[in-house]
Amino acid sequence: MDLKLRVWRQKNKNAKGKFVTYTANNITSDMSFLEMLDLVNIELVKKGEDPIAFDHDCREGICGSCGMMVNGRAHGPGRGIATCQLFMRRFKDGNTIVIEPWRARAFPVLKDLVVDRTAFDRIVKAGGYISAKTGGAPDGNTIPIPKPVADEAFDAATCIGCGACVAACPNSSAMLFVAAKVSHLALLPQGQLERKERARRMVAAMDAEGFGNCSNTYACEAECPKEISVRHIARLNREFLKAKLAP
Ligand code: SF4
Ligand code: FES
Repeated sequence: MDLKLRVWRQKNKNAKGKFVTYTANNITSDMSFLEMLDLVNIELVKKGEDPIAFDHDCREGICGSCGMMVNGRAHGPGRGIATCQLFMRRFKDGNTIVIEPWRARAFPVLKDLVVDRTAFDRIVKAGGYISAKTGGAPDGNTIPIPKPVADEAFDAATCIGCGACVAACPNSSAMLFVAAKVSHLALLPQGQLERKERARRMVAAMDAEGFGNCSNTYACEAECPKEISVRHIARLNREFLKAKLAP
């Protein structure tokens, strides 16, 4: 396939960005989207030009670093995948692909497609942890937890902190991310000690970072690579309310 790419290029946080057009030639359908960008970058480097900056690490949907908007969708076409799991078979010869960074005030662009997601780290630091000593895996397994509860906690725990929920949301809300962390820990016995403080502090940290409010569009759930359900947002709201009403 030969493709036309319109890629957001921005030198640094303070520079004005713009779309630049590139061609990606001889792309095969079994290449990943990031491998296609690698090839474009090899050509740019050969020509002495600055390669397109983009975040990536695991390239198998685990680390959450490879977020970008592809044709207006967080992580591109398809459900339940990160950009690194997007394959070129979803595109056709001659297609134009528009590639942009996450757009959210709380995620400033650092360079090209790379955004600063440390706002998420600060939210987790505010309460996304437990202080109970849990021992090793065998100790954890000695605490009986009903299977449906363990499954629900695990679903929330699959959040990889990619930020697609924020990028997809028309309000740039981080509710799905915060809900996943709060829900995961609120469901497990080890998370009970800081349960109320956690909900209060993480919501306060989220608001302080400048994320918007949830208005129930469910765009976050639709674009989440781990298909985390908005029912965790309902649990976050209950946790927050209970914490606020507690003495
Ligand atoms: S909730 Fe989903 S979209 Fe949001 S950060 Fe976690 S994995 Fe990414
Ligand atoms: S590179 Fe790790 S999730 Fe995509």
